Amino acid sequence: MKTIAVIHGPNLNLLGSREPDTYGSQTLAQINAGIEKAAQSRGAACTFFQSNVEGELVNALQGAANTDGIILNAAAYTHTSVALRDAIAAIAAPVVEVHLSNVYAREDFRHTSLIAPVCHGSICGFGAQSYMLALEALL
Ligand code: DQA
Repeated sequence: MKTIAVIHGPNLNLLGSREPDTYGSQTLAQINAGIEKAAQSRGAACTFFQSNVEGELVNALQGAANTDGIILNAAAYTHTSVALRDAIAAIAAPVVEVHLSNVYAREDFRHTSLIAPVCHGSICGFGAQSYMLALEALL
């Protein structure tokens, strides 16, 4: 059975109430439940992790190094974190970068992803469906 690790970065614990016009109205628990259901229907298993702390996200990436794939929404750390980039580059598991919003249609500082060059691929702008498309790509 394939195992996929889903890792969410800072402020994504607030989904549902956080800027719903940008990020939608689903809570993180609802999004995770949808990913889990889709994975199960494909005979795969998922683990879920969220943190607002950069180092904890590095630890989660290292801990998921031997999974079949990682779905990562690094949130704001996408645009700033050399530590996350290095962690992704250090592990064998393919990482798919996801974003709920279309970061390229937003502020200039969101147009730079430090992690994209070391990710397997990137998906953004499809709301919660971005995670489903990443799952599809990894299975
Ligand atoms: C985000 C986009 C990031 O720019 C932002 O900092 C987030 C969420 C997204 O899912 O659209 O926190 O990763």
